[in-house]
Amino acid sequence: MKSINLIIGLTALSKSYAALTPVTNWGENPTNLDMALYVPAQVAESPAIILALHYCGGTGQAYYQTANYDKYADAKGFIVIYPSTKKDSNCWDVASEASLSHDGAGDSGGLVNMVKYVTEKYNADPTKVFATGSSSGCMMTNVLLAAYPDVFAAGSCYSGVAATCLQGSPGSSPMSADPTCASGQNVHTGEEWAERVKAMYPEYNGTYPRMQTLHGTADTFVNYPNLAEQLKEWSALLGVEFSKNVTNTPQSGYTQMVYGDGTKLVGYSASGVGHTVPVHPELDVAWFGLD
Ligand SMILES: *[C@@H]1O[C@H](CO)[C@@H](O)[C@H](O)[C@H]1NC(C)=O
Ligand SMILES: *[C@@H]1O[C@H](CO)[C@@H](O)[C@H](O)[C@H]1NC(C)=O
Repeated sequence: MKSINLIIGLTALSKSYAALTPVTNWGENPTNLDMALYVPAQVAESPAIILALHYCGGTGQAYYQTANYDKYADAKGFIVIYPSTKKDSNCWDVASEASLSHDGAGDSGGLVNMVKYVTEKYNADPTKVFATGSSSGCMMTNVLLAAYPDVFAAGSCYSGVAATCLQGSPGSSPMSADPTCASGQNVHTGEEWAERVKAMYPEYNGTYPRMQTLHGTADTFVNYPNLAEQLKEWSALLGVEFSKNVTNTPQSGYTQMVYGDGTKLVGYSASGVGHTVPVHPELDVAWFGLD
């Protein structure tokens, strides 16, 4: 009995790990990132792309286990990129000038080059490129949407901080970062946040990507006030005001905070939830229009 369980366990483990395809030589990689892909058996003719970003200390493989989009990718034919960073306790660089600038050759630029590679290789739809992530991955989702509004159509974000919250910090990890940001003390008006974001890509004059962001009220690691700061930032960038709360959505204890008509910006406040809010893949794909 024991050996059968062991075999089943090993099969499940090796199966899930084997499903990701590592990719090398995908283009300019200024910060030495790793890239892996989930490509469904039936890729759509012009597939969407989800870039799924791990938390600090994580890897693409680990995040693939956590936030699994396989069943949706298999049904809709989209491709998921699971990148990895190996620096600064495996945290994404959301602090340096290079990463916080459009075409700045930091982590953000390397990630966008992965998107470009997949777009060319699989004939992906450039209007259907999405970013998501948890904790550090949510911080990077904010940065990518801010620095590359021309690349991303929308983001879905778990327990992170506003783009530029860590600007100028010596690092981006719990050990290396200026703690002001994660502790929720980096507070700005929406207009101030928007100005900082626009400075990342001053030539850009188009619209900004849609954003959905979730945070737990009991988060004392990346403190809860960071939800309000993100919402102020994206509210100003997207030109939508808070309109209403919808309680117990998508589940008991979560409050959906709707901005405008709810198509551009939505927050979710998860009552009593700590760091991080569990990934809700069905909520992500619905927000991306891939359900
Ligand atoms: C936005 O920038 C593009 C390219 O620089 C330019 O062609 C276009 O006229 C600009 N649009 C507006 C509304 O300023
Ligand atoms: C909406 O919900 C959030 C999170 O629970 C809360 O902080 C805020 O006060 C609510 N706003 C209104 C107008 O009820």
